[in-house]
Amino acid sequence: MLKKTALALLVAALMLFAVGCSSEPAVTPEPEPTPGEATGLDGEAILNAKCGSCHSIDQVLAQQYDAVGWAAVIDDMITRGADLTDDEAAALAEYLSLR
Ligand code: HEC
Repeated sequence: MLKKTALALLVAALMLFAVGCSSEPAVTPEPEPTPGEATGLDGEAILNAKCGSCHSIDQVLAQQYDAVGWAAVIDDMITRGADLTDDEAAALAEYLSLR
């Protein structure tokens, strides 16, 4: 009797599992963005073009931030007079944080 109940439970569990699996749509995870992919812009070229007029590029490269930190620094530089579009700022933050 006990054996039968256990078997019935096992079968029920397996059926639930199978139903659960088959009703789930196949989820394909979005691939992680690779450097430069989000905007298609060259962060290094932007750095050399836009960030060397007030201080040296080396002074920029001496700093280490993550992407969020760089975005904040770049925003700060824009308020000081650096001339970047939103896409250029994003590509540069990505480049500087991943180098
Ligand atoms: C209009 C002039 C100007 C331009 C263009 C400029 N900066 Fe700056 N930057 C400054 C000044 C002024 C300071 C010094 C700020 C201070 O001492 O608080 C500075 C300091 C920095 C620092 C060191 C301070 C910190 O917060 O880590 C970094 C890093 C930096 N800039 C990055 C950049 C980047 C990246 C760019 C290109 C997007 C850029 N800068 C373009 C004026 C500029």
